Amino acid sequence: MGQLKSKKPTGRMGARQIYEALRKQILERVYESGRQLPSSRCLASELSVSRTTVTVAYEQLEAEGFIELRQGARPRVAALLLGQKPADRKKRQNETRLSAYGERLRAAPPWPDYLPSSLTVDFRYGDLAPSDFPTLAWKRTMNEVMARRPTRLAYENPRGSRRLRQALQGYLWRARTLHCDLDQIIVVNGSQQGLDLSARVLLDRSDHFVMENPGYRMARQIFASTGARAVPIAVDAEGLRTALLSDIRARLAYVTPSHQFPLGGVMPISRRHQLLEWAQEKGVYVIEDDYDSEYRYDINPVPPLHSLQGGSNVIYLGTISKTLSPMMRIGYLVVPPELQDVFATAKQLSDRHSPVSDQEALATFIESGAYERHVRRVRRLNSERREILLRALQRLFGERIAVEGADAGLHVVVWFKELPKLCEDALGEAARELGIGVYGISPLHDPEAQDGIEAPLGLVMGYSALTTREIEKGVALLAQAVDMVKQRHGQR
Ligand SMILES: Cc1ncc(COP(=O)(O)O)c(C=O)c1O
Repeated sequence: MGQLKSKKPTGRMGARQIYEALRKQILERVYESGRQLPSSRCLASELSVSRTTVTVAYEQLEAEGFIELRQGARPRVAALLLGQKPADRKKRQNETRLSAYGERLRAAPPWPDYLPSSLTVDFRYGDLAPSDFPTLAWKRTMNEVMARRPTRLAYENPRGSRRLRQALQGYLWRARTLHCDLDQIIVVNGSQQGLDLSARVLLDRSDHFVMENPGYRMARQIFASTGARAVPIAVDAEGLRTALLSDIRARLAYVTPSHQFPLGGVMPISRRHQLLEWAQEKGVYVIEDDYDSEYRYDINPVPPLHSLQGGSNVIYLGTISKTLSPMMRIGYLVVPPELQDVFATAKQLSDRHSPVSDQEALATFIESGAYERHVRRVRRLNSERREILLRALQRLFGERIAVEGADAGLHVVVWFKELPKLCEDALGEAARELGIGVYGISPLHDPEAQDGIEAPLGLVMGYSALTTREIEKGVALLAQAVDMVKQRHGQR
């Protein structure tokens, strides 16, 4: 029990310290399951503390299930799952029987963790720059909300706060020419929950859903987790190739017409009509993920499918993850009137409703005009970042690359004409060695409908979290990484 000795030679250990030290060691498997610990008398004498102190610590550990105490016997470390060796844990995990949904998740490749990276420059798509966050204005808004005396402490409407839905209704009309009734709006915890609710409400095992290919992996996985099957449809510079839909039967189609994720195409009006006509004819609901439509740099944002004639089958999905923060987890669905009650029930069963104070703060922020001012500001800042990125890429790579999808959004796709797609991992590794994070486009393709390995290597490069200096430095390092890969693969 030497490891339990107090660090301060003069200080005696209290029950709390003994408890914490033992707990830590059990969790770290210094003591394996079933191992005996010293008797309370023995440990008390070793630590020069009273027996009662040790007994208190042991009783707390027993109450939390870490050890087992038996009259007249030494305490034993309980058979904890955490106490098992990683190999045993893995075995147990694979033997545990899960629901069909659980099994599908278990079979899916794990997601990368989103912990802060130690990279000097990370082109990971989806992050925003902390310096862009309107800290003062948001703080003021939060203070205002918190200063209001709550008139009740009770569950909210599952659709979300009335004030926020009213604010969103006005915003959607002003910014997106989208007109809807209040009860069609459901406030959700980010687009992700909107996709999850849509999947649960609309898809069954063996149903089919249309997915852009390449497309948003989170959406594909969430729909597939219901047991439904993806029908990957190719995209080009104008988004989903709607001409390929005519014979397809599906329950749902997921599209990003304002800025196709990841290739960046903006769907022209002719394709929008073709998509809506097909959906009407086949009785398909179209999920329109309008995730970053605030960022259109050449012309005004294109109106959504939802506001077009024939858009009655459209489930519109918006988020503040690209304007304010992905950490707030606020998004909104606009569902067709016939689905509004069932979506509200699905939301209620999922988590009752989204947190009210954040909803109230966002409502106040939108009502005061601060949100739209903020959107204009971040659009300008991201337009500068985009400019710097495009210039740096042009300067260092020139004709050796082709850039796609730069007119809108917060990322571009860069195709490296001299590197084959099979070098994607090698480029990622070389970049990491130099301290930069770059991400290949391959994982965004449907796993069963991959292009041939002849295709050039493509990267999805997000820039909205970086300073202009970081962008320039990152592109210079990327050029070095490309050279390293070319050398290693003997492709000079
Ligand atoms: C296509 C697409 N939709 C939606 C989102 C936003 O998701 P959320 O609102 O859950 O943060 C992202 C984020 O990267 C995205 O790429």
